[in-house]
Amino acid sequence: MRTQVAIVGAGPAGLLLSHLLDEAGIESVIVETRSREYVEARIRAGILEQSTVDLLHTAGLGERLDSEGDFHRGIYLNWPGERHHLDFVDLVGRGVTVYGQTELTKDLGRARQASGQRILYEVTDTAVHDVATEQPFVTFVGPDGQAGRIDAEVVVGCDGSFGPSRAAIPDPATWERTYAYSWLGILADVAPSTDELIYAWHPDGFALHSMRSATVSRLYLQVPTGTDITEWSDDRIWDALATRLGHGQDGWTLTPGPVTEKSVLPMRSFVQQPMRYGRLFLAGDAAHIVPPTGAKGLNLAVADVALLAPALAALLRDKEPALADAYSETALRRVWRCTHFSWWMTTMLHTSDDPFDAQLQLSQLRWVASSGAGAAGLAENYAGLPIGY
Ligand code: DHB
Repeated sequence: MRTQVAIVGAGPAGLLLSHLLDEAGIESVIVETRSREYVEARIRAGILEQSTVDLLHTAGLGERLDSEGDFHRGIYLNWPGERHHLDFVDLVGRGVTVYGQTELTKDLGRARQASGQRILYEVTDTAVHDVATEQPFVTFVGPDGQAGRIDAEVVVGCDGSFGPSRAAIPDPATWERTYAYSWLGILADVAPSTDELIYAWHPDGFALHSMRSATVSRLYLQVPTGTDITEWSDDRIWDALATRLGHGQDGWTLTPGPVTEKSVLPMRSFVQQPMRYGRLFLAGDAAHIVPPTGAKGLNLAVADVALLAPALAALLRDKEPALADAYSETALRRVWRCTHFSWWMTTMLHTSDDPFDAQLQLSQLRWVASSGAGAAGLAENYAGLPIGY
């Protein structure tokens, strides 16, 4: 088959890109390895920056986000004996919205279905070809075992760090940082014990109290990389969360509840440059990975797509290549900002075995919580810089 833009990957980046291209009158086809059910159910982050929310509104995707998303003015920072609220709205005039990636993916999937979008799920052996020419194409094997081919003017890799697109860029520069710890994350059917997220430093390790709705809590614990999840019973998890989040501190209590999902997530920083080679463009995790602290991954993918959609519309509709030529450099400015912020939040909050590190972390936390300049720096990055930063 033939289309203007072949998109590899039907996660939030690929779905949103095809939506924005459709609005600009550009046709696309998406191929995806997983099933639609899998893509829509996989648990990921749940915090949307103001610019992500604004973009979804402008794109006509704000209805359920408005009714079910929960606006937060800021976050709490906690360490033994102390809890401080940072009010992002007061500090920088922007907040964040709690809305699970699962919900956003469902909204995007429905909008694509309503527009008659071609999305081919459960394909295997996806490969991208001839991206250095103006006739690139994507090959795959469909769920029925039939070989398929999409001829396009442009191919976009929204297929994450394990997808085939990334490897189609020859000799990229790459940067990577691995961390000695992972996150053990749970979803629990219990009302959150807090109105806004709590990021907690504790000698036993970092803990985070997040949420998905008024009845579903999402919580994380720092654990050593390589942790066997079977060593963590639900009771042990709730006990560790209570200790690290400050149960009993100033009368605050953590209410445990039934755990419905439990997994260990590795943490990594990774950037690949350039994000464009010939007629192949990368967006989201295909080009960069951030550790989850600060919830930047999804927002960064949305920011890539917000730049890429108008760039491709100008290239394909108006034969105007300037934005497409600038895409990689422009996107990477924000990528590196978020890479730094995610690393900064991660290293401020996760304990190592080094007592010197612990003193620096506590000093940094006290400064962020008590200095207007320190707090505003965190708030500006967390609530998100404007698209095009
Ligand atoms: C969530 C994840 C994060 O990494 C974060 O910083 C805040 C919230 C979440 O999954 O809810």
